[in-house]
Amino acid sequence: MFSEYRDIDGILALADESIKHDLLQQRGIAIWLTGLSGSGKTTIAQLLEQRLKEENYFALTLDGDALRNTLNKDLSFTTKDRSENIRRAAELAKLLVQKNIITICSFITPLQQHRNIAHSILGNTYFEVYIECPLSICEARDVKGLYKKARNNEIKDFTGIGSAFEAPLQPWRTLNTSHQLPEESARILFTQIFPHISNALV
Ligand code: ADX
Repeated sequence: MFSEYRDIDGILALADESIKHDLLQQRGIAIWLTGLSGSGKTTIAQLLEQRLKEENYFALTLDGDALRNTLNKDLSFTTKDRSENIRRAAELAKLLVQKNIITICSFITPLQQHRNIAHSILGNTYFEVYIECPLSICEARDVKGLYKKARNNEIKDFTGIGSAFEAPLQPWRTLNTSHQLPEESARILFTQIFPHISNALV
């Protein structure tokens, strides 16, 4: 099954281990999953990471919830703090990508200005994937019970309720999870990124 969220030290230790053994016959890219809470980002990220491992690629996932419990636990959900959250996540992803690690980044990244920050840091290694799902469906799923709390005013600035989500202007790819299972989305995404991670094309 999928591994537990790793902290930053754990991630960097794994990276060092991999590099030491010269295992990385691959090109590092950042696959940036953006979408509402409950759209399926984390599940797709886990399935894609698993698939990449099965195909002998070295991939790591950086996830909003995990980083907000560690590196970014000082940050709130204001537009400004979300910018800082994304800036730090993108800088961390850049360090990993520079070491040829395929880095799956799973963050709501709600506004175009937030996605622009990630893009400007990661340059041509930034592959933006919009995990598209209507708010009504994300809210009906309410996997973590947060939409209910947001509707009850127990959480302020919740994305889609008290805080805006702008659909990406020009995502590299879009996966619609309202009529596609996460397994299918991850399978499609793997075939889409495959030409970009192959060492032969570097
Ligand atoms: S982002 O907007 O800055 O990109 P990020 O992806 O790191 O967000 O974190 C989102 C996660 O934080 C959600 O999946 C949810 O579990 C939790 N969360 C807590 N409060 C909020 C909120 N106000 N808005 C959105 N997500 C929240």
